[in-house]
Amino acid sequence: MNKSFYLETFGCQMNVVDSEKIVALLGEIDYQQVDQPEQADLLLLNTCAVRDKAVRKAYGHLGRFKPLKDRNPQLIVGMGGCIAQQEGEQLLEQFPYLDLVFGTHNVHRLPEMVQQVAENRVRCKETEFLDRETRLQLFPTRTGQEAFTRFVTIMQGCDNYCSYCVVPYVRGREISRPSHEILDEIHELAGQGVREITLIGQNVNSYGTKDDTEVGFVELLEQVNAVEGIDRIRFTTSHPKDISPELIDCFGRLEKLCRHLHLPVQSGADTILRAMNRGYTREHYLGLIDRLRAVCPDIRLTSDIIVGFPGETEADFAETFSLLEHVRYSELYTFIYSPRRGTAAADIADDTLTAAKKARFDRMLLLQQDICQQVWEQDVGTVQEILVEGTSKLGEGQLFGRNTWNRIVNFSGDESLAGTLVSVKITRSFRNSHLGELVQSAS
Ligand code: 5AD
Ligand code: SF4
Repeated sequence: MNKSFYLETFGCQMNVVDSEKIVALLGEIDYQQVDQPEQADLLLLNTCAVRDKAVRKAYGHLGRFKPLKDRNPQLIVGMGGCIAQQEGEQLLEQFPYLDLVFGTHNVHRLPEMVQQVAENRVRCKETEFLDRETRLQLFPTRTGQEAFTRFVTIMQGCDNYCSYCVVPYVRGREISRPSHEILDEIHELAGQGVREITLIGQNVNSYGTKDDTEVGFVELLEQVNAVEGIDRIRFTTSHPKDISPELIDCFGRLEKLCRHLHLPVQSGADTILRAMNRGYTREHYLGLIDRLRAVCPDIRLTSDIIVGFPGETEADFAETFSLLEHVRYSELYTFIYSPRRGTAAADIADDTLTAAKKARFDRMLLLQQDICQQVWEQDVGTVQEILVEGTSKLGEGQLFGRNTWNRIVNFSGDESLAGTLVSVKITRSFRNSHLGELVQSAS
C-alpha cells in the first residue's frame, strides 16, 4: 500500500534542491507527497541554521508534529538539513518523538532510514560528511518536476569561513561538479522544455578552483550560453572576492545571461569587512560595481547586509548606509547579526545594544524601500521581455513571469503562452511585483 509524506523546506536554494531529491527518493519507495501533515505517515523538515530565527522556526514546526505523533505512534518524524547536521544526536535526546535525523551529506540515505524506522521502530541518525569521491557521485540532479525554470547545482559547500557564518560547518568543504555532467543535465532539461537555468552553489565564482572540472566558471557560462533551447541563464551566489574581470565581461557579451547579479556586500565599512573575513574592501567592491555597469549599463544589483556585527559602530553603519545610497540596489536582503555557535565571530565581544541594532536596521529598511520604489518605478511604460512561468494566483486568465532583473510581472493572457518569451508593457509597479499588458508574443 502506498504511504504518504509531508515535507517542509526552510532556507536557501541548496535546501530547495535537496528537497526535490527527497521527493524523488521517497517516490522510489512508494511514498507520495501530501500537503497536510494530518494526512501523512511520514513528517519531514528540511532545515536552515543560518540565523537563530530560522532555527526557532524549525523547532516551532517540529513542536506542531508532537500532538500528531501522540495521536498516532506509528507516525515517523524526521529532521534533515543544516540544523540536523549541526545538532545530530542532541536532537534525538531533546525530542523523544523524533525518529530520524539526516545531515546535509546524507539525503541519499533517507529511503533506507525510513524503511528501517518503519520496520524495526528504531531511531536513527546519519550526519557523517562524505569523502570527495562519493560526494561527486551523489551530486543533486534534476528530479523531473515540470517547470520552465530550473536550478542546476554546480558546486556545493564553502571554504570561505566568513566569521559570522555557519555554512562551512554544516555544508562541508567546497566541491565542484564536472562540467560535462552539468552540461548533460542542462541539455536534458532543454529537451524537456526548460527555458531558464540558474546555476547554483554557495560560492559559484570559485567553481572549478578546487577540483578538476575541465573548465572554469567563465567557460562553463559560455558553454551553457551555447545550449540550444535555453534562453536565459542566472547564477547565484557570488562572492565579491572571486569575481574576475573575465566574469564581469560576460555581462556584456553573453546574450542569454540575465542582466541581474546578486552580489552580497554584507557591510560598507572596511573594519567590519575585515572582522567578517570577507577578503575584499569597500573600494574593491565599488570597483566591481563600476566595471559591471560599464560593460552592462542597465544591470541591476541585489545584495545582503548584516547589521549589528560585533563591534559595528555608528560610523561603520554610516559607511554601509552611504554604500546603499551609492549603489542603489534593486533589492536588498537585510539581517540583524545572529551569533552562531562554533563560528569565529561568536567569540567577539559585542557591546552594541539590541535596540541600537534594531534602530540601524529600521533606518536601512526605510532608505532601501525608497530606493527600490524609485528603481522599479522606472519600468512603468517600458516594454519588457518576460519568460512566462504559468498562471498567476491573481485570478482567471492571469499569467505571471519574470523580466531579466528577476522581477515578477503579472498580466492577462492565454495559458498556452506558458514557457514562451513575450513582450509586456509595464503599467504599474507594486512593492514586490509589476503589473503589465501583453504586447505581443516574442517567440
Ligand atoms: N547573522 C545574520 N545574518 C547572517 N547571514 C549569514 N550568517 C548570518 C548570521 N550569523 C546572512 C548573510 C548571507 C545570507 C544568506 O545570510 O547576509 O549572505
Ligand atoms: Fe557563508 Fe561566507 Fe561561505 Fe557565503 S561565502 S556561505 S557567507 S562562509
